[in-house]
Amino acid sequence: MPSDLSPIEKAKFTAARHAAGLIQDGMKVGLGTGSTAAWLVRCLAERVRDEKLQITSVATSTRTAELARSLGLTVSTLDEVMRLDLTIDGADEFDGNLGLIKGGGAALLQEKIVATASDRMVVIADAAKHVATLGAFPLPVEVIPFGWRATSRLVEEVLAGQDVLGHEVVLRMAGDVPLRTDENNYILDLHLKRIGNPQSLALALNQIAGVVENGLFLNICDTVVVGHPDGRVEVTEHGSPARQVAQIDLATTSNIFSDLGD
Ligand code: 5RP
Repeated sequence: MPSDLSPIEKAKFTAARHAAGLIQDGMKVGLGTGSTAAWLVRCLAERVRDEKLQITSVATSTRTAELARSLGLTVSTLDEVMRLDLTIDGADEFDGNLGLIKGGGAALLQEKIVATASDRMVVIADAAKHVATLGAFPLPVEVIPFGWRATSRLVEEVLAGQDVLGHEVVLRMAGDVPLRTDENNYILDLHLKRIGNPQSLALALNQIAGVVENGLFLNICDTVVVGHPDGRVEVTEHGSPARQVAQIDLATTSNIFSDLGD
């Protein structure tokens, strides 16, 4: 473990390392997007190489597909595989019901399609992602570029009738131009501060014609694996309190860091 890895990266690595151990030979696995999911991809690639596992993977973004292929993993399309055993992904927030906000990395659409095509979704995160109520992280909503201003206005109208604290809607930019998702759509970030009724909000947003999908993942996640910077791993399953299940030895645990050139 390189000494300059920040506590948060150690926590993300810890969660990813534990979750990679849930993957069994022969499984079809969805690979999430983001910095925590990138650790998962590295940990899985290491296991596949060392243990000669046969794993079929489906990526949730071109970024993740490129990383996975560069590390020697076989990446298939969802249409080839159809049904997955397990998807492991990060999240921007999770609450006590294992409801999530996702899409900070602009990959929410493929992430939701892949997660809902999976028998099980496991989220990997650091403890800072745990919230009592969803909404401090701006809720990403993927919209069609055509007429996006009109769509944004309709989103504001929806928000006026919802149990939320903030109402600001911001088009996500990449420098001077709107950010494009893998599907070439735009992202609106909804600064809501607090979402009182996520179910109602998710349904209302998805009824707007220009909205493709929203970043609320409700009744999709089965398990959250939280990593801590000291190597402790806590797991929360639906309906049960968090319990410590493992302690990863960060000093001796992996070749990943030497593989990264550290
Ligand atoms: C990408 C996502 C990511 O899972 C989410 O943004 C968390 O990212 P990170 O692990 O880098 O904190 O939803 O669309």
